[in-house]
Amino acid sequence: MQDSELLSLARQTAVNAYCPYSKFAVGAAVLWQDDSISVGVNVENASYPLGVCAERNAIANGIAAGSKKIALLAVWADIDATVAPCGGCRQVIYEFVADSDVRVIMGGTSDVSCQTIGELLPNAFTPRDLLK
Ligand code: THU
Repeated sequence: MQDSELLSLARQTAVNAYCPYSKFAVGAAVLWQDDSISVGVNVENASYPLGVCAERNAIANGIAAGSKKIALLAVWADIDATVAPCGGCRQVIYEFVADSDVRVIMGGTSDVSCQTIGELLPNAFTPRDLLK
């Protein structure tokens, strides 16, 4: 699976975003180490804080299907810039990577960028930090 294919899947998925409040549609696609793929969109709520980002929904869908570790993640939004995962999503992505070198592809209508999750979230709080 090429980066462009996963980003294209994220873009196609964004049409299903439920974002009546922000009007900011986001789609995400995750390639897992077991070669399966999951997708997600942002799903907002009339009680605003209950909205969930596309990345976290894509990850939850993959975990529910039995996948364990993320190999590659793509996120796309309908903006003239590349979308940056929010801090909460960076933390959740980190939880499900085997290595901080896992790449995150970020796309918009006219640009694409790529950074590792370690670059996006240096000094992450990890499950290891909970060991006493
Ligand atoms: N959003 C995402 O789903 N992912 C991102 O990476 C950035 C923001 C959503 C949350 C909210 O529904 C809307 O975009 C505006 O913040």
